[in-house]
Amino acid sequence: MLRAAERLRMTQLLCGKPVDDPVEIMGLRFPNRVGLAAGMDKNGATVNAFGALGFGFVEVGTLTPRPQRGNSPPRLFRCIPQRAIINHMGINNPGVDRGVENLSKTRHFKGILGVNISKNKVTPNDEARMDYLACLRAVWDVADYVAINFSCPNVPNLCELAKAETAADLLAALKSEQSNLQQETGKYVPIVMKVSPDMSEQQIRELAHVFMDCQLDGLICTNTTTSRIGVENHPEAHQKGGLSGAPLFNRANETLEAFSQELHDAIPIIGVGGIMSPEDALAKVRAGASLVQLYSGFVYQGPSLIHSCANALKKHFDNLR
Ligand SMILES: Cc1cc2nc3c(=O)[nH]c(=O)nc-3n(C[C@H](O)[C@H](O)[C@H](O)COP(=O)(O)O)c2cc1C
Repeated sequence: MLRAAERLRMTQLLCGKPVDDPVEIMGLRFPNRVGLAAGMDKNGATVNAFGALGFGFVEVGTLTPRPQRGNSPPRLFRCIPQRAIINHMGINNPGVDRGVENLSKTRHFKGILGVNISKNKVTPNDEARMDYLACLRAVWDVADYVAINFSCPNVPNLCELAKAETAADLLAALKSEQSNLQQETGKYVPIVMKVSPDMSEQQIRELAHVFMDCQLDGLICTNTTTSRIGVENHPEAHQKGGLSGAPLFNRANETLEAFSQELHDAIPIIGVGGIMSPEDALAKVRAGASLVQLYSGFVYQGPSLIHSCANALKKHFDNLR
């Protein structure tokens, strides 16, 4: 329906013009600071419509080398009073080649396009690097930045890739391939890592050093959490999977703040997790984010949240000038 509305040019009539607040981050010009987080446009076929709703950037995926069905339904649960979502989708996606085909055929969105990639569920962790490299090569021509998903709680053992030594190997391989591809194509595509909110302070410190040593281009804080704090009494709280929305806000902010303190502005951060109001978006920026992304807040509140957050951030940064 969203795609049809965009084709009929109804989206802008209903939502108004996207907020114009251009900013340059990672060498890319973002039309405004509010993006759509990964997992909603898993196929890369709805970028134009999400862009027309007012997002300055859209992150598609997660895409894996081969298509995968994900976990069996039901795999998505709303905890409405808590404004939360629990999901164990399991990275269902049509495979990276189909995703790239969709993007090449349809994209006319002028904002920034991120493509989020990961390994297939059946690929063992010690071969994960080959999957990430294959995806990086496949999406290079269509992506403005590439996000590395190694923090999804719904893929068994994926988060083990975030151990400092393993992450350093993976990132070194990705940065080396990035440099090869840059030489081949003359185009530079920044690489950003998407982290979990379920890490200890020690793990955050170690990872932050890996990111700085490897000259990572950007960081996304955070993915969903395995914690159930804030939804304890909801009948669906026992469902397995990642929790997002309002109850994730504090934990995601603590992770963001901890990374920000370790990184000293060396690496830009995209803040995501529990943004349900413009005040929440401002809190992400105060904790150290340069850009923000929405998912659950957008599900519960619709496109008006994009505009109110983008306007609040515009005003905030205008006042600092
Ligand atoms: C149904 C659902 C599917 C998601 N799928 C992905 C995904 O494929 N890849 C990814 O990196 N994050 C995925 N996420 C995580 C979101 O991108 C985001 O990091 C998280 O939901 C926290 O933001 P929020 O509290 O605003 O929802 C998903 C989240 C939800 C609710």
